[in-house]
Amino acid sequence: MLGESDHSLRKFVAPEFVFGAGASRLAGRYARNFGVHRVLLVSDPGVASCPWFDDICRSLDDAGISWAPFSGVSENPRSAEVMRGAEIYEAEECGGIVAVGGGSPMDCAKGIGIVSSNNQNILSFEGVDKVRMPGPPLICIPTTAGSAADVSQFAIINDEVQKRKIAIISKALVPDISLLDPLPLTTLPPEVTVNCGMDVLSHAIEAYVSNASSPVTDLHARKAIDLIVRSLPGAVERPDDIDARFATMMASLHAGLAFSNASLGAVHALAHALGGYLDLSHGLANALLLESVVAFNYAAAPDRYGEIGRIMQAPAGGGKKALVSRIRAFRSSLGIAGTIADAGCERSDIPSLAARAIADPCLATNPKDITLEDIGRIYEAAF
Ligand SMILES: [Fe+2]
Repeated sequence: MLGESDHSLRKFVAPEFVFGAGASRLAGRYARNFGVHRVLLVSDPGVASCPWFDDICRSLDDAGISWAPFSGVSENPRSAEVMRGAEIYEAEECGGIVAVGGGSPMDCAKGIGIVSSNNQNILSFEGVDKVRMPGPPLICIPTTAGSAADVSQFAIINDEVQKRKIAIISKALVPDISLLDPLPLTTLPPEVTVNCGMDVLSHAIEAYVSNASSPVTDLHARKAIDLIVRSLPGAVERPDDIDARFATMMASLHAGLAFSNASLGAVHALAHALGGYLDLSHGLANALLLESVVAFNYAAAPDRYGEIGRIMQAPAGGGKKALVSRIRAFRSSLGIAGTIADAGCERSDIPSLAARAIADPCLATNPKDITLEDIGRIYEAAF
């Protein structure tokens, strides 16, 4: 187990970020600071219709930054959408990107940036450190508390032909600045709030038990678990509660700083395969797999999982069973009561899902070695 006495070499990468009420209205000022005159404004149709979106556009206008809109991004951003965005970026002669939205627009924007600078298909970047040239200046404004794409070295893109999600992991994907404003979160529907919150919890737990964790990522992971468990129910019950929203945003930030540097594990590997196949919400896919993966991994990192149980206030001394029950009770209390079968998964899908999951780079840092057969059994346990 890693601890303060572990002297393994580790690095920690984080973008500059500004957080607090009104941060999103700094978009224009930062774009101007980067010396950019025209940006591609990447969002999705839901985001572009929200009242606070106009304030972000106005901040660009006020700073003398012209912008070309691109909102052709679906929930699980597809490779064709990234390539289309890159075409528009070129045609509109943009010099930077502003991404406004949840993980999907931000991941799409990251993809557009590296496609533009490297002139390669987005799918060719799959894996770790495959990006040669960094993208143009990227400003991220997250409007959900979940993906942490605004601080992470990750982009997840859907290969719609193979029906699988690919993970691109590179320092070139860390935004140049993130503007973290709790106001946009107040217009999130409850279901999205819950799914994103379960993504935060999954990030924090996976980073904490990752075999690439460090004393620095541990701090952020522990804080994220505590914050999300305390604040998510309030954010769901009272969507306008800016304090609860701010707390979920900070939880997402801490979890993002942890997992971007410690990486993830089997929950995300299996969720990428499941979500890509069924076009499921990413957070929901994680929520439906988290307990089964914790049960599988527990014996490989009992102290770490024990600490997670303590933070989540699982019954003391209850071990694996208590933690798994606590996670199940938490997600059920927020309205995610089903299984992967309820989400549309068939038992006959398991072999092809397992074959996709075993290739996911997130598995490299899972605390326990995992085989194709193990993955099949974990999916089976989540039915
Ligand atoms: Fe995630």
